Amino acid sequence: MADNATVQDAAHQEHARMWDERYAERDQHWSGQPNHSLVVEAGDLTPGTALDVGCGEGADAIWLARQGWTVTGLDISKVAVGRAEQAANEAGADIEWIAGDLTEGVVGDREFDLVALHYPAIPKEDADATVKALMDATAPGGTLLVVGHDFEGSEHGRQHAEERGFDPNDYVQPPDVAAALGEGWVIAKHESRPREMPEDFQGPAVPDVVLRARRAAEPG
Ligand SMILES: C[S@@+](CC[C@H](N)C(=O)[O-])C[C@H]1O[C@@H](n2cnc3c(N)ncnc32)[C@H](O)[C@@H]1O
Repeated sequence: MADNATVQDAAHQEHARMWDERYAERDQHWSGQPNHSLVVEAGDLTPGTALDVGCGEGADAIWLARQGWTVTGLDISKVAVGRAEQAANEAGADIEWIAGDLTEGVVGDREFDLVALHYPAIPKEDADATVKALMDATAPGGTLLVVGHDFEGSEHGRQHAEERGFDPNDYVQPPDVAAALGEGWVIAKHESRPREMPEDFQGPAVPDVVLRARRAAEPG
């Protein structure tokens, strides 16, 4: 009988394969524009090091690099990371790319001044490992930004997602992360707000759930 680790490995490989297939269905999956909530939330931070988790085709990472951040983009899909790297090269943005699973310790013990995760599609089974990886990757004094879709605020959006076989309850969401942030963290924002969509976006405009938290600085 397979042990738990083997079952988990197989699940992660299947998750990566599913994302690779999804990306391979079209030449471009996302808009190429940075996410509205990233622009709002990171706009007032002093640039330092940033980790963009689930970076997809790289628009957020490229935007951060243009603002002066030293950026690492991480995604489980090799196809997405290949596209992100190409887009960054074309934009003249110098970014480190990692193709790997956040929950498998791929960033090691590195810490970043900003850890951003937009529209996480990480299965709930991996919630504990996800939250731990996000918290560990955030440097003392750094910011953790997790943004998801607020399906409670959009019945139409929920219907649209379900029609595509996507149940948000199956995935780690900002409230899961907020609930795990205890001592040593200050939640600056945990709220729903309207999302500004790219002009050519097709589909329902689902509001964002934004979690912005700060890890306490180490006593100096
Ligand atoms: C809904 S997409 C969002 C992409 C991008 N952040 C954006 O806003 O356009 C979710 C992304 O997370 C990636 N992903 C899913 N599970 C992951 C994991 N465990 N580790 C790293 N990336 C993951 C997927 O490959 C996909 O690119």
